[in-house]
Amino acid sequence: MPNKSRRRGVLTAAAAVVAGAVALVPAAEATNTQPYIVGGTEASIADHPYAVYLTDRDGHQFCGGVLISRTGVLTAAHCAQAMKRQQLRVVAGRQDQRTSAGVVSEVEKVWVSPQFKDPTTGNDVAVLTLEEEMPYRPAKLPDASDAELYREGTKARVLGWGRTSDGGPRSDYLRGALVPVVSDEGCKASFSSYDKSTMLCAGYPDGGVDACQGDSGGPLLVGDTVIGIVSWGEGCARPDRPGVYARVAAFTTDVRSQG
Ligand code: ARG
Repeated sequence: MPNKSRRRGVLTAAAAVVAGAVALVPAAEATNTQPYIVGGTEASIADHPYAVYLTDRDGHQFCGGVLISRTGVLTAAHCAQAMKRQQLRVVAGRQDQRTSAGVVSEVEKVWVSPQFKDPTTGNDVAVLTLEEEMPYRPAKLPDASDAELYREGTKARVLGWGRTSDGGPRSDYLRGALVPVVSDEGCKASFSSYDKSTMLCAGYPDGGVDACQGDSGGPLLVGDTVIGIVSWGEGCARPDRPGVYARVAAFTTDVRSQG
């Protein structure tokens, strides 16, 4: 893949985070006409009580996250760095953004992987320590040695909130989609900057199901175990362009000591 187009994809992603645009897959990225998520369905917060989202001080959602303890939220480094700690808010227990269900917390501390530079070079993980204890069941972390969860073809669930496309109608509900884990070789063939030690890919060869801008920071789960964190991609849901996730098992030790 030409380096130029990769850069453009990443810049678009960053711009979308800033604009607060969100989606689990815009139906047609170029035209943005279909008001629904391709391959995704509404998901229930009762089934996924650990699913949280990040907002700015005005309550605008811009990323996802996942509870890993009462006060620990695992998210993407590029989400944690999108604004000052004092402006970050974490919303838990709220399936529909239009309601006031659940708990909103400020953030006491931000830990970002010290190796993080930008999503395409990997290490896109951060842990937020919350001011409030969240009364919701946290997700499980994988063991550092848990290779089985990362096997090619494993069906994993990605969760996120928000708009279905840039400027398109907004999805206020939590959404989820199932995507198969892609082999390291397969992902490397799609993205030359793929680093199997800190990243993971998931998606179908034909595309059609994916996370998208604004879903960053949200979890990729096998059962209740979070194996990945939405990190980057090239467009969304394109053939041979799977979603790229931070490989959580590579950070379990660091993350446990934070969360
Ligand atoms: N970087 C994007 C964000 O900040 C996430 C992109 C995920 N893209 C994908 N095709 N899976 O929200």
